[in-house]
Formats: sequence, structure tokens, C-alpha cells
Amino acid sequence: MERGSFGTKIGVVLATAGSAVGLGNIWRFPYITGEDGGAAFIVVYLVAVAVLGIPGMVAEFVVGRHGAANAPRAYSLVGGKAWSIVGYMGVLTSVIILGFYSVVAGWCVQYLFASLLGQLNGDAAYVKNYFQQFSTDPIKPLLWTIVFIILTHLVVVRGVRRGIEKVSNVLMPVLFVLLLLIVVASCMLPDAGKGVVFLFKPDFSKVTHSVMFDALGQAFFSLSLGTACLCTYASYFSRQTNLLKSAGQIAAIDTIIAILAGLMIFPAALSVGINPDSGPSLIFITLPNVFQQAFPPVLGYFVGVLFYVLLALAALTSTISQHEIGTAMFFEQMHISRRKGALIETVLAIAIGILCSLSCGAVDLEIAGMSVLSFCDFLTSNILLPLGSFFTCILVGWMAPQKLVRDEVTNWGTTSRALYKVWLLLVRYVSPVSIALVFLHQLNII
Ligand code: PHE
Repeated sequence: MERGSFGTKIGVVLATAGSAVGLGNIWRFPYITGEDGGAAFIVVYLVAVAVLGIPGMVAEFVVGRHGAANAPRAYSLVGGKAWSIVGYMGVLTSVIILGFYSVVAGWCVQYLFASLLGQLNGDAAYVKNYFQQFSTDPIKPLLWTIVFIILTHLVVVRGVRRGIEKVSNVLMPVLFVLLLLIVVASCMLPDAGKGVVFLFKPDFSKVTHSVMFDALGQAFFSLSLGTACLCTYASYFSRQTNLLKSAGQIAAIDTIIAILAGLMIFPAALSVGINPDSGPSLIFITLPNVFQQAFPPVLGYFVGVLFYVLLALAALTSTISQHEIGTAMFFEQMHISRRKGALIETVLAIAIGILCSLSCGAVDLEIAGMSVLSFCDFLTSNILLPLGSFFTCILVGWMAPQKLVRDEVTNWGTTSRALYKVWLLLVRYVSPVSIALVFLHQLNII
């Protein structure tokens, strides 16, 4: 069967960075940074990305490019039939993520229209009430969730080069420019310096165990590690793609965007005296206030609208990648058309999305004392992502034929061998041990 591929080098980097950059950077990174004390957390996060994120990414790339197939098949081609389980786990993880992620992405679209229509204007109590009323409504958030998944579906069915690569090539630069614009506006506010200090002046007494573990967890989620997403995208890479270099570039883009998101939110929040540690609601409850109070009315209106456009675009390039993992598997393994494969993934994601959306207040739906949405988030981020990445490191570092791994990482001996050796050390020892620590800690075993 004819497989798709990315057409250009820049397409490879932008599409994969498009997967990495999303709600994880713009919504999750600032709120975790806010809760974990700012600059010191960022330092630990940067170490986590370099030591654990980049090597883990390359490991997934090795499996994907060597396998040149959907995730379960790629894992079995590298390690033998039993390893396909890791690929299947990735498919499962990604469809669950797609379900709950689309609910939050749907909220962003609602906020986009609400700010466009000027419905978010009001005092703090009004804005808080708006979020509560909207997110517990049985119909509206549900519709946006479904719309978002269908939008993702429409891009994915167009295939790799015409759909995913084309959309990413346009959206990623737009995203970057929009972000910069809001950062500049935010940093020009009175007292914005407080937010900059919060982000860049580390107070290492704030680095506790839980800050370290939070930083590792955030690195997984943000780099799309452990879902077989990177493996699926790497199956569209060519033999010329330099895996180490691409992983470094993608991690750099992802990190820069996360820090820019911090620079967009904290100076503005502190400028109007809003606490940086207000948690997951930071964007939906706090920011509409910030846009109104911190900017003159017309500017505030545009900044608000731009922000939610940005968030929805970032979420879309990530949901596309989550969708592609399952689509590629269904259509290749079941020998059906790409369109039908995508349809199966869409139906599954919509089913999960409906449950997640309704569980936010419209219907009393709980698993293990959590709303279905929180449960899906917990199950994937805390358990399935670490497990997926851990096994990938074990496979590539220890079980796969070492010549195969060396050839992939050094592009058949044409790139630095010294770098390969450092990478191997990280993938064999440092990554699995750190991942095991995160995993055990999150299960409250240590
Ligand atoms: N990395 C994406 C983000 O930061 C989320 C994601 C996770 C995407 C797993 C694909 C796979 O929002």
C-alpha cells in the first residue's frame, strides 16, 4: 500500500512541532509554573526536556522511521511481535487524549466566539459565573467537542502531505506571530516586570520533590511523548531526516512557545494583581478579566480574540496528531481506506469526548471519584504516557538490534558518533530510571 510522507524538511519539523505545541504549552505549562513557584520550576523543566525529553523523542523516531508503518506494526518490526502491545497502548492512549483534549479545545472555540461577540465583558464574578454556566451546560460544550473532532477528522482524511503538513506549515508560523504580539502587549503593561521576575529569577528553595515530578510529567505531555504519536509521524520521515537534530529543534520550539506563553500570561496577570497560582482555570476564568482590565477596551477586545484563536489553532495541530495515530493503524491493519480508518477513530473519540464533556457538571458521571474528564487526564498523563515512553526506551536501548539503532540515529554513519553515544547512555540508563521514578511517585509508591 502506498504510504504518505512529509514533503520537505521544514514540513517534518513544523508538523511534529505542531503536535507538540498545544494546550500543554499554552494552558497547562503556565498554570503548573504558577502553582510550582515560577522560575525554579522552569529550570527543572528545561533539564527534564534535555535529559529525558529529547532522548525519548529520538527513541520513538527510531521505531517509527525503521518500521515505516503504523505504531503497532512499527514496534513489532523493531522488537518482535510482543512489542506491538506498546504500539496498541499508544493508539489507546491517543484516542483517550483526543477525547478529553477536544473538550478543552471546544471550550477555547466557545471563548473565541464569546470574546468576538463581547460576551466576556463584565466583572470578575460575572466571568467566573460565565465559565461555570457554560462548562456545565449539557448541550453547548458537547457540540463544540464534536465540532472540534470533526474538524480534526477533515484535515486527517486529506492525508499526510496535503492535510497535516500543509496545515502545520501555515498554522505554526501564524501561531508564533500571534503569540509574540500578545507577549509584547502584555509586557508593556504597568508593573509587568513582576511577571518577568517571577518567570526568570529562580528561587531554588521552592524546588521540592513534587516540583521535580511535575516538571517531568509536564515534559511528557508537552512533547507528545509516550503515545506513539512521534513514532507515527517518524514513519513519514525520509532517510535524510536527521533524528537527533530534528528532536532538538522540535523540543526547542516547544519550549520557546511554552515560555512565551508564560511571558504572555504572568506579566498581565501580576499587573492587575491576579494570583499566578489560580490553577487550571487560569485561562478561562482569569484571562478574560486580564484582557479587560489590563488593556484599553479596543485593544483588550482584539488581544482577547487573538488569544483564543491562537489557543484553538495550537490545539488543532495537536488533535490532528492524536487522530493520525489511530487512523494510520485502522486503515493499514484492517486494509480499509484512509477515510474509513479516520471515521472509526472519529467515532471512538466522539464517544469518549461526549462522556468527558457531560461529566463536567451536566450529568453526574464519575470514575474513581473523578469526573470522566479528570480520570482520562489522570490515566493518560500519569500512567499510560510514562509507561509508553519507558518501554520505548527499553526496546530501543536494550532489546532492538544495536546496528539498526545506530544506523537510524547516525543516519547510516553520516552524523556524529559521539552524540550517538551520549544519547545511548541517556536512553539506556537515565531515561528509564527517571521515568520509573515519575511513575512510582505518581502512583504514590514512593
Ligand atoms: N503535546 C500536546 C500539547 O502540548 C499534547 C499531545 C499529547 C499531543 C500527546 C499528542 C500526543 O498540547
